[in-house]
Amino acid sequence: MIIGVPKESFPGERRVALVPMVIPNLIKAGFEVVIEAGAGVDACYPDDNYIQSGARILPGRKEVFAAADIVVQVLSPGSNDKTGKADLPLLRQHQILVGFLRPLGSIETVQAIASAGVTAFAVELIPRITRAQNMDTLSSMATICGYKAVLLAADPLPRLFPMLTTAAGTITPARIFIIGAGVAGLSAIATARRLGAVASAYDLRPATKEQVHSLGGRFIELPIETKEAEDARGYGRAQDEVFYQRQRELLGRVVAESDVVITAAVVPGRKPPVLVTREMVARMAPGSVIVDLAAELGGNCELTRASQVVIEGGVMVLGYINLASRVPYHASQMYARNVTAFLLHLFRNGKLQLDGDDAITRETLVTHDGEVVNALVQKFFSLPAKAKNGPS
Ligand SMILES: NC(=O)c1ccc[n+]([C@@H]2O[C@H](COP(=O)([O-])OP(=O)(O)OC[C@H]3O[C@@H](n4cnc5c(N)ncnc54)[C@H](O)[C@@H]3O)[C@@H](O)[C@H]2O)c1
Repeated sequence: MIIGVPKESFPGERRVALVPMVIPNLIKAGFEVVIEAGAGVDACYPDDNYIQSGARILPGRKEVFAAADIVVQVLSPGSNDKTGKADLPLLRQHQILVGFLRPLGSIETVQAIASAGVTAFAVELIPRITRAQNMDTLSSMATICGYKAVLLAADPLPRLFPMLTTAAGTITPARIFIIGAGVAGLSAIATARRLGAVASAYDLRPATKEQVHSLGGRFIELPIETKEAEDARGYGRAQDEVFYQRQRELLGRVVAESDVVITAAVVPGRKPPVLVTREMVARMAPGSVIVDLAAELGGNCELTRASQVVIEGGVMVLGYINLASRVPYHASQMYARNVTAFLLHLFRNGKLQLDGDDAITRETLVTHDGEVVNALVQKFFSLPAKAKNGPS
C-alpha cells in the first residue's frame, strides 16, 4: 500500500500531513510513502529529511495522487473550501482519503467524494475515547490554536502580561478571559498563566470548572440554568436565544474588565453563538484585544470578520483563521503522529479493516462504495439511510 502526501493547497496553509519522523513506523508496518516535492518545506521539513527517513519524493501533485492507494492530507476537499475541489478529479475509485473533511459542512463535496468511489475518513470524527487519544487530531490542533491565540493577543496589547515589581513600581498583571473552556480554551489558559497573566474562564459545561482550576484559572459562574450542557460525545450543546441573551448580560461585566478576551465557544455543526456584542466591546478599555477562535465559522464576537483585524473604539478584534498553520512545525508533527496511529489502527497486514463494530472506524468512515455511509452525516443532512450505516 502506497501512502501519498500532496502539498497542502489551502491559501497560506503551511502544515504537511506526514513528517519525516513517522515514516519509519509506517514503513515498518508495510507501507510505502511518497511525498510531493516541497510538501514539507513551509513546515521546515525539507525533502532531504523525507528521503533519509525512507520516503520517495515525486515531482508533482498529479503524480502523488496517481501513485497513492491512500491519500493523506491535512485539509481535504470540504475543509479546504478554497482549492480543495481541484483535487476531486485527481481522486479515483477505491482510493482511500484521510484528512479533515468537514463532513457537516458541504454535502455536495461529501457526495462528490462518494461519487468518485473513494473510501474517505474524516479525522475530525475520531471519537473522543481513551483508546483513540493518540489519534485525536482535533485536540492536537486545538492545543496549538489556544497557545497561539494568547501570543497573538500579547503582541499588540499595550500592556505587559506578568505582574512585575520593579524600581519603577508595581505592574499589575493582564487579565485574560476565556469563553469556552474546551481543549483550545484550556490551552489558552495554560499559556496565559505561563506568561504571568490572571486568567478566568467560563464554559456552559460544568465539568470544565475543575479543569480551569487545575490550570490556575478562575472559573466564572453564571446564575443561569443550562439545559443538558453536554451531549453524549462530550461536546457543548446549543442553547436557545433566551439563554444566549442572558449569558451576554451576565458576561458583560467580566468582558469589560478584561484586557484580553479569547472566545472559543463552538457547538458541532452549528453557527457559533454571538456571546460578545458590539456594546460589550464598547465597554472595554482602549488597547484591549479580542481573539475570536470561532472566526471561521462566523465568530463569537459581533465585530469579528474572518481573516481580518477589526479595530473599534480602540479595541482590536482578531478574526484570524487556521491558527494551527501558524505553528506549522509542531502542528504537522502532532497531526502526523495522530494520523499514523489512525492508519495503523485501520490497516492490518497492508489491508484496510472495515470493521463496523469498531467505533473508531465506524464513526470516521464517511464515504464508501459510492455512498455517504456515515450515520452522523446522514442524520445531519437528513439523507435517507439507504446505504448501510457504516461499514459492514
Ligand atoms: N480523549 C478524550 O477523552 C477527549 C479528548 C479531547 C477532548 N475531549 C472532550 O471533548 C469535548 C469537546 O472538546 P473540544 O475542545 O474539542 O470542543 P469544542 O472545540 O467544541 O470546544 C468548545 C467549547 O465551548 C463550549 N461552549 C459551547 N457553547 C458555549 C457557550 N454558549 N458558552 C460557553 N461555552 C460554550 C463547549 O462546552 C466546549 O467546551 C470536551 O468535553 C473535552 O473534554 C475528550
